[in-house]
Amino acid sequence: MTKVSLTVNGEACHAEAEPRTHLADFLRQQVGLTGTHLGCEQGVCGACTILIDGQPMRSCLPSAVSCSGSQVQTIEGFDGDELMAALREAFSVHHGLQCGFCTPGMLITARDIILRYGDADEATIRRELSGNICRCTGYMGIVAAIRAVAQGRQPMAVEAIAITAVAAAPVAAATPAPKPTAVAAALGQDGPVLRQSLEIDAAIDPVWLALADTARVAGCLPGASVQQVVGNQVSGQLTVKFGPIRASFAGQAEIERDEAQKRGRITGQGRDAKGGSSAKGAVGYALRALSADRTAIDIEIRYQLTGALAQFGRSELVADFAARMAASFAANLSAMLRGDAAQVVETDINLPAMLWALLKQHLAKLFR
Ligand code: FES
Ligand code: FES
Repeated sequence: MTKVSLTVNGEACHAEAEPRTHLADFLRQQVGLTGTHLGCEQGVCGACTILIDGQPMRSCLPSAVSCSGSQVQTIEGFDGDELMAALREAFSVHHGLQCGFCTPGMLITARDIILRYGDADEATIRRELSGNICRCTGYMGIVAAIRAVAQGRQPMAVEAIAITAVAAAPVAAATPAPKPTAVAAALGQDGPVLRQSLEIDAAIDPVWLALADTARVAGCLPGASVQQVVGNQVSGQLTVKFGPIRASFAGQAEIERDEAQKRGRITGQGRDAKGGSSAKGAVGYALRALSADRTAIDIEIRYQLTGALAQFGRSELVADFAARMAASFAANLSAMLRGDAAQVVETDINLPAMLWALLKQHLAKLFR
């Protein structure tokens, strides 16, 4: 048994737990807070959603031990919260619950949606709620309740994640901010934004030429493959695995390139038919010559995730994941330009292990 010290609903909680006990079981069995419900216990259904350090998270994924030192807020801990009180009332008025099994997770996610978006429209609510599953399929009442509470409210928290790539080669002392791109316009203002700069061991012209070869460039991205390129339209696949959740997104993208400015934009969307997750995103990039044989690629990514992976879309996990992918991409693109393809193959094979290691490392860091 290992000691666990948490703050739960504002009160210090000291107990012991097996290292394998997940936080939801710990809260239900040792703290006696049974309002946190358990459905899939695999991070898919969202029934166990609580706040950990202010962020909605699945409590069936992290171990209680790894959450030591965190501030935890369960559905029992919202007394005096005006927004939660309004949501509870609205769920009742709009018939937003039937058996009530999904309701604690739904309420916590709904509160987070209104805090972040304020007066959210129905499409936004449905998209953001897609990581919470109601087995009674009472979505119409749930969405109506959230919409009713959201009306006329202002956002109270805006998330924008800025990250720095783990570059494959030594990074210059100061990397200037990425050039503005039209990424935001392509997707509206919704969804997190990732910005980073990669450095490639090659001159700017060969890098620009290499980026025009879509199939070869896709080969530099772990888990990605291109099936067809017709003009500036590309169809392909990207496979990722977040712990127990595996998603294989098949989709299409449109590529735009500005030869004069050496910048471009890729806008695409994909769907994981098995898991029901969808992803939509835009990537803007601009090249800068750092020296005669070294080039920076400044990248801005804006994305939206729906379905089982939606909750990861708001966490640092996606930022870490994107940084790892970018680092692999930079290493592979540099290797490709040197005529060395070995790294490309290796990175592809190691992707699932890399992502699982990343998930464990992230959770340990986040909840310690
Ligand atoms: S029980 Fe945690 S996501 Fe389903
Ligand atoms: S109300 Fe029954 S699971 Fe949602």
